[in-house]
Amino acid sequence: MNKDVLVRTARAMVAPGKGILAADESAGTIAKRFAAIGVDSTQATRRDYRQLLFRAEEAINRYISGVILFDETIRQTASDGTPLVKYIEAAGAIPGIKVDLGAKPLANFPGETITEGLDGLLERLNDYRRLGARFAKWRAVISVDSDRGIPTDFAIETNAQALARYAALCQNADLVPIVEPEVLMDGEHDLERCGEVTECVLKTVFMRLYEARIFLEGMLLKPNMVVAGKKYPKRASPEEVALSTVRALKNCVPAAIPGVAFLSGGQSDIEATANLDAINRLGGPWALTFSYGRALQTAALNTWSGMPSNVLDAQAAFTHRAHMNALAAQGQWTEMEERVAP
Ligand code: 13P
Repeated sequence: MNKDVLVRTARAMVAPGKGILAADESAGTIAKRFAAIGVDSTQATRRDYRQLLFRAEEAINRYISGVILFDETIRQTASDGTPLVKYIEAAGAIPGIKVDLGAKPLANFPGETITEGLDGLLERLNDYRRLGARFAKWRAVISVDSDRGIPTDFAIETNAQALARYAALCQNADLVPIVEPEVLMDGEHDLERCGEVTECVLKTVFMRLYEARIFLEGMLLKPNMVVAGKKYPKRASPEEVALSTVRALKNCVPAAIPGVAFLSGGQSDIEATANLDAINRLGGPWALTFSYGRALQTAALNTWSGMPSNVLDAQAAFTHRAHMNALAAQGQWTEMEERVAP
C-alpha cells in the first residue's frame, strides 16, 4: 500500500470547488435512462453519450475532480479512436471505476440486498489500475420500510463487512476506495427516520472499516444526505436537510477522512444543489462535495436525446450543472447564478 499515493489522490478528488461525476451506470441502468429519452442502448450510443460528457472540457477541467466509469467505458475508445480515459485525464480529472457487481436479493431477508463482487476483486482492481483507474467505488444499498422491520441489523452488518473488505483490497492495489452506503430515498419515512437509519449504517460501516485496518486518510465516503422518503408528504428545507445531515456525519464519521462526496439519490437537480450548498454553509472537518449521477446528468441527457445536433447544447447543460454544484460545494450557490441559462 502506497499511503502517499492514496492521500494525494483522495485529496485531489475533493479539491475545493470540485466534485465527482458518477457516469458508472450499469448496462441495465443506462438502458433505463436511454429508454426515457427514446434512445436504444447500444455500445455505440453509450459511447456517444459518454464522450459527450467527457469532452465537455470546461466542465471537466474546472468543476470535476474525478469520473466514475463502468467496466465497458474504461475499455472504450471515442469515435476518433482515443481511449475515453485519455479525454478525462487530458481535461485534468482522475478516472475511477465502479467495481461492485450490483445489489442482489439478500437470501431470507425479503426487500433487502447484499452487494456482490468480492470474489477475484484484487485481480480486477490491478487490471483497472493498468487501464488508468486511480480510485474505485462500491455501493451498498439499505432500504427503509418500518412496517416490515427494514433495515434489519443483519443487512446493515453484512453490507458493512463487504464494504470493509472491498476498501482493504482497494488500498492494497493503491486505489482510493469510495465507500458508498446508500440509504434509499424510496418510501414513506420522515427526515428523522432517515437520520436514525443513516447514523446506524455509518456507525456500523466505520466500525468494520476500523476492524479491517483501513487507512482513513486514503479513502472517501459517499453517503446519502438525510432526507425524507419520496412518499413522505412534506419536503424538508435545505436548511433542515443540512442540519440533519451534518449532525449524522459528525456523530459517526472520523475527522481523519479527507472528504465526503454525496450521492444525489433521486433528488431533483436543483434540490441536490441547494441541499449541498446548505450543507457547506454549516461545514464540518471534511471537504463536503458531490459525486452525482442523475443530478449532474439529467439535463444533459434530456437535451441530447440521441441527436448529434444537440451535443453542444447538452454539453452546455452539463457544464451549467457542474458549475452550480461546484459553487454549492463551497457554500456559494445562489438562485441568481442558477437562472443564468446555459
Ligand atoms: P445518483 O447521484 O444518481 O444517486 O448516483 C450516484 C451513484 O454513483 C450511485 O451509486
